[in-house]
Amino acid sequence: MGKVYYVSKNVGLGVLMLGTLALAIIIALSIAYDKERAKNRSKPGDGVTDSTSMPILPTTPSAPKETWDHYRLPDSFIPISYAVTLWPRLVPNDDGMYIFTGHSTVVFRCVKETNLILIHSNKLNLTIFNEQLAKLSALGEHTAPAIAKSWLVSKTQYLVLQLRKSLTVGRSYILYTEFQGELADDLEGFYRSEYVEDGVKKIVATSQMQATFARKTFPCFDEPAMKAVFNVTIIHDRGTIALSNGKEMGTADSLIDGIAIRITTFEPTERMSTYLLAFIVCDFILKSQQENLKAIDDRQGEYALNVTGPILHFYEQYYNARYPLSKSDQIALPDFNAGAMENWGLVTYRETALLYDPSYPQQETKRELLLSSHMNLLTWYWFGNLVTLRWWNDLWLNEGFASYVEYLGADYAEPTWDMKDQIILYDVHKVFAVDALASSHPLSCLEDEVNTPAQISEMFNTISYSKGAAVLRMLSEFLSEPVFARGLSSYLNTFAFGNTVYTDLWDHLQQAVDNTPGLHIPHSVHDIMHRWTLQMGFPVVTINTQSGSITQKHFLLDPDSVVERPSQFNYTWFVPIKWLKTGVEQQQYWLLHKTDVNSQMTTSGSDWVLANTNVSGYFRVNYDLENWDRLLSLLNTNHKALSVINRAQIIDDAFNLARAKIINTTLALRTTKYLSNERDYIPWESALRNLNYYILMFDRTEVYGALQAYMKKQIQPLFEHFRSITSNWTKVPEGHTDQYNQINAIGVACSMDVEGCRELTKSWFRQWMQNPMHNPIHPNLKSTVYCNAIAFGGTEEWDFAWKMFKNATLASEASRLRGSLACTKTPWLLNRYPLNVVGMPLAWNFVRERWSTFLSMEGDHFSFSSLIKWNHEEISTEFELQEIQRRNQHVGFGSATMAMGTGYREDLRPILNGVTENKVQVLKWFTEEST
Ligand SMILES: *[C@@H]1O[C@H](CO)[C@@H](O)[C@H](O)[C@H]1NC(C)=O
Ligand SMILES: *[C@@H]1O[C@H](CO)[C@@H](O)[C@H](O)[C@H]1NC(C)=O
Ligand SMILES: *[C@@H]1O[C@H](CO)[C@@H](O)[C@H](O)[C@H]1NC(C)=O
Ligand SMILES: *[C@@H]1O[C@H](CO)[C@@H](O)[C@H](O)[C@H]1NC(C)=O
Ligand SMILES: *[C@@H]1O[C@H](CO)[C@@H](O)[C@H](O)[C@H]1NC(C)=O
Ligand SMILES: *[C@@H]1O[C@H](CO)[C@@H](O)[C@H](O)[C@H]1NC(C)=O
Repeated sequence: MGKVYYVSKNVGLGVLMLGTLALAIIIALSIAYDKERAKNRSKPGDGVTDSTSMPILPTTPSAPKETWDHYRLPDSFIPISYAVTLWPRLVPNDDGMYIFTGHSTVVFRCVKETNLILIHSNKLNLTIFNEQLAKLSALGEHTAPAIAKSWLVSKTQYLVLQLRKSLTVGRSYILYTEFQGELADDLEGFYRSEYVEDGVKKIVATSQMQATFARKTFPCFDEPAMKAVFNVTIIHDRGTIALSNGKEMGTADSLIDGIAIRITTFEPTERMSTYLLAFIVCDFILKSQQENLKAIDDRQGEYALNVTGPILHFYEQYYNARYPLSKSDQIALPDFNAGAMENWGLVTYRETALLYDPSYPQQETKRELLLSSHMNLLTWYWFGNLVTLRWWNDLWLNEGFASYVEYLGADYAEPTWDMKDQIILYDVHKVFAVDALASSHPLSCLEDEVNTPAQISEMFNTISYSKGAAVLRMLSEFLSEPVFARGLSSYLNTFAFGNTVYTDLWDHLQQAVDNTPGLHIPHSVHDIMHRWTLQMGFPVVTINTQSGSITQKHFLLDPDSVVERPSQFNYTWFVPIKWLKTGVEQQQYWLLHKTDVNSQMTTSGSDWVLANTNVSGYFRVNYDLENWDRLLSLLNTNHKALSVINRAQIIDDAFNLARAKIINTTLALRTTKYLSNERDYIPWESALRNLNYYILMFDRTEVYGALQAYMKKQIQPLFEHFRSITSNWTKVPEGHTDQYNQINAIGVACSMDVEGCRELTKSWFRQWMQNPMHNPIHPNLKSTVYCNAIAFGGTEEWDFAWKMFKNATLASEASRLRGSLACTKTPWLLNRYPLNVVGMPLAWNFVRERWSTFLSMEGDHFSFSSLIKWNHEEISTEFELQEIQRRNQHVGFGSATMAMGTGYREDLRPILNGVTENKVQVLKWFTEEST
């Protein structure tokens, strides 16, 4: 699934009505959301649970007594096909409730003798026939045993049928149910999505089945391996349209109980998992967005249409497997929990992910579209939908795979965008940060460690997506892409329409290796990969270029943290090291032990060594000081001798090694000195993410002045560079990544008070204020310009933005404006809207006072932990942290418990240490370097 957002728009809208208290909460949330979004820029449609999430711990072995107490289905049956009819009501019934009714037939074969039928059913009211909740018959000549007793088990979400006699192995049976469910606005299963158009509330019935919500729509064997064919029928008002996975087969108009309805039937689906089903009924078109939706009415935006063909073609070639379906519809919805969901044949998106203002074919949105909405989803069509993992414990393979391959597809569609490099920022560095905590968890876990719906949903986390992507990329790099692709293709073609476990992929890759003469890897694919998937974390490899010694060590951000999770591999890895010596690529080196010596890696004179070329391996690198010095002097004299990725890597490794107290903070800071000559996006972005940390750490100390002076000095040339390549800001740069870097340049230059920057953004904003109907600000720059105009403007700017926010019709524009309102530095405005650095004490007072209100909003997709997670960056004193913990002991922390506990505490400790221990060193360095 598209990575799950923290904050659903639904919550935002619902809460808005509660007034100002709620308003501030929404704002806080939207900031958390925007920050997260900024971090994940490549995948805005895909907010990730950006945490190591809860480690999956083995469940306590209090052995359940009855079959129906187990969360997993027994293996007595194989479903063959379903016929499902659903009738959602888009107006409330007499009790004010929105409902749907329906009936379902499932044909299944008995493969193990049993007198018990278990089928998932959750929150459905089932019709009673002859005192039972279902009807059972047999397919063919024989008869089915009678039902003795039937009941629902709400904990494990089953309908249980106790039969008078056993079912016969090899025979097929038919189970029929009729049901009524609530079309709730809970974004789960078959649900309703509301939006307002011209002051009128409109309802859309839509669905999100992944991971365990199909059972809330109709009784079904709701596990990914229980694939079947689905014959879908939807009953709906004549003025509405119905969509599902299959192609529409026909419609018929009819009357039911005097109600005029239309019956739309769909072609049978391919054999597929229940979590990929989709049902939609709506009365298109949302008028305010007619323009956009016209594009989607063909079910494709124009840009999407332009790239879908080439991308599908790319994947067909890459996987060497044809696209298996007859159609691929795509639809944007106003309320949608995930950024996007890869339902087979009917992809659903969150509105902001697919729609963009057509008068501004905005680069950023284009890329968002390209990446999140297409690449990802299209790769899932093969990896996930066609071949499905047997159980959710292997989810990382699907999600990691999609996260990796999407960059290849995007690169194919837009070759000038340097998409392949960007995986470093948006996946590798991102997950390094969480996987370096002692509380991280391995990629892979055992099937029986993931049982309950809650445990399943915990599998959707950064580790699965981004570490999955990073280790698969590493695997592809050391096997070489052609070998990797051959293995994949054979895997996909072997298991099409079936289910697998992840080691099946290793088998097929191993075959590809064995069939490639001359390719040598030091251990089998299984043995190498097990080290990366079965133990958490990753190594820091230290190369001493004086002695040639190479060592590996589990990298932990907090050197004082204690790793409680044992590893059968003692936290050592088989590390493939691609490396350069003085600019020349060397033969890949495998570090197979804790320490080793490679005389090739010794240097003399001005030679330097750079390991982990293009971060092709999932590890960090440290060197002896001499080599660090040489790398730094190379950066200062001729930074282009290193690739963009490696420049970013040197910075990111150094800062993280410093946080882990492996190297000096000043050494890390020195990696930023060359930035005055750097024009590329990826190194800048990497540096800014790391320096931001220092800004947060020191913004209320005497260090800040010197830090600001240094940053100003470094960013100024970049700002001037963009001024010059944009003809005095009259256009945007041509290069794709330049467009991103321009945003950084303006944002940082303004906040560091580079001359001309604040005047520039303010004048743009003023032009807009003078003519609100015409916004002259380039869409790329909107967020930055709004934020700065409000930060350095006055009440007028704030009021204008507030007005525009309230009037905004496009979701993306509303979200930008909402975020920018928080940028104000005027204290009394912060009373209205209190969350940013200046207003932090105020903001915290606000949150502290209303802790239990926040808690009561929990559930319903309001993620409290995300709020804390975001805010923890801002909590820079131990005192503040303790304060929050102390004052709220009695109410607890809800889903933030983890955040307030080990996970984030651990992440905080280095910050806190940093503040006290490094202040003198840091102040001295910034002071010296800023003059
Ligand atoms: C679904 O449709 C297929 C093809 O028409 C048919 O063979 C199958 O029996 C149908 N399934 C059910 C449960 O009606
Ligand atoms: C299901 O039945 C319960 C108990 O009668 C009732 O409270 C609930 O509203 C029903 N749900 C629906 C969707 O009809
Ligand atoms: C789609 O492709 C056509 C033809 O190449 C081009 O004119 C058009 O601008 C493209 N549309 C978008 C949104 O990129
Ligand atoms: C891990 O360490 C233990 C004890 O030192 C040793 O017996 C075991 O062989 C090691 N395992 C691996 C995979 O290195
Ligand atoms: C770190 O910096 C301090 C003070 O500048 C210095 O005394 C110390 O030797 C440095 N340590 C390392 C490992 O470079
Ligand atoms: C660039 O713009 C500024 C402010 O709008 C103006 O003062 C300056 O003359 C312009 N320079 C050039 C070369 O156009």
